[in-house]
Amino acid sequence: MTDLSELQTKLTAEVAAAADLGALEAVRVAALGKQGAVSALLKTLGSMTPDERRDQGPAINGLRDRVAAAIAARKADLEAQALEAQLAGQALDLSLPAPPRRRGSVHPTLQVMDEMIMIFAEMGFSVAEGPDIEDDFHNFTALNFPPKHPARETHDTFFFHEKADGERKLLRTHTSPVQIRTMRQTNEPAPAPWIASAQEPPIRVVIPGRTYRMDSDATHTPMFHQMEGLVIDRAIHMGHLKWTLETFVSRFFEMEGVKARFRPHFFPFTEPSAEMDIQCDRSGGELKIGQGNQWLEVVGCGMVHPNVLRTCGLDPDEWQGFAFGFGVDRLAMLKYGMPDLRDMFAADVRWLEHYGFSAFASPSPAGGLS
Ligand code: PHE
Repeated sequence: MTDLSELQTKLTAEVAAAADLGALEAVRVAALGKQGAVSALLKTLGSMTPDERRDQGPAINGLRDRVAAAIAARKADLEAQALEAQLAGQALDLSLPAPPRRRGSVHPTLQVMDEMIMIFAEMGFSVAEGPDIEDDFHNFTALNFPPKHPARETHDTFFFHEKADGERKLLRTHTSPVQIRTMRQTNEPAPAPWIASAQEPPIRVVIPGRTYRMDSDATHTPMFHQMEGLVIDRAIHMGHLKWTLETFVSRFFEMEGVKARFRPHFFPFTEPSAEMDIQCDRSGGELKIGQGNQWLEVVGCGMVHPNVLRTCGLDPDEWQGFAFGFGVDRLAMLKYGMPDLRDMFAADVRWLEHYGFSAFASPSPAGGLS
């Protein structure tokens, strides 16, 4: 006769020692399976006398129940352990620094354009744009450049091949053709939705954009950026021009009362014409704006020539105005200390990482300029 309590001790020890669900299943089969030790004992009940059975039956059934309960408990334990291990393996450590991400940056020229637009927007200007590929009429003729006049040569224009009808397109040499597109009183729609269409005066626009000239050295690149300004209204005079530009430079360089001077100059489309210089100091190899007694040219400007007004269908006795044209890249170099213009368009990511601006640092009246 098997000693039931010895068997129970042996089986429960085996259950406790089962290290995983596979081992536990082997213990279960060896005890409770068809050929198992406990099943074999259950089978002996059939050949017992009623007295023996009354005595042994509850003992053997009790053994079976206790072993089955021990197996079920161990199984629950092992499953819980397996789940714990799985969860521990998958844990997310939120204290780890995130891997670095490559982020683009805003090119200083575009940043400066945004700054300029914001300042002029505060003064009531809106933005007008025109095409990079222009025709001779908008780029030269309507702007009072006489045919064959040397002023056309000074622009070192990139021309396209002549078309069959004799038309020769060009890459605009300045943003001034957009003055014509904005002022010209025609009923023709603009050739594309983003191209400025004619407005009736009063007009107050700034015109940012790319411009092209055959020129390349440390301060000139064949492609560069300008921001034109145009104001047309009644009784406009040089005083308005002077105030607008002086206010702009103080705001742009974030300094009160930057001294400016106007030097007579020549542009075919303005009369009188001038260049505005601002006060600076170049001593010690460093450029400081708004101090010292040297001058730095920043903008060409003048009163819109009566011929230009007439070409655009505006009566010069009724309407006057002023225009100005900034070199945007040049202003960006001055404000943010970039030494060579050519680097600005070399598309070198390291340069952009150094001089570029965060996309979140867009200039705004509330957030400031720079
Ligand atoms: N278009 C001129 C240039 O490119 C600049 C300018 C604009 C001058 C408007 C006067 C008025 O040099």
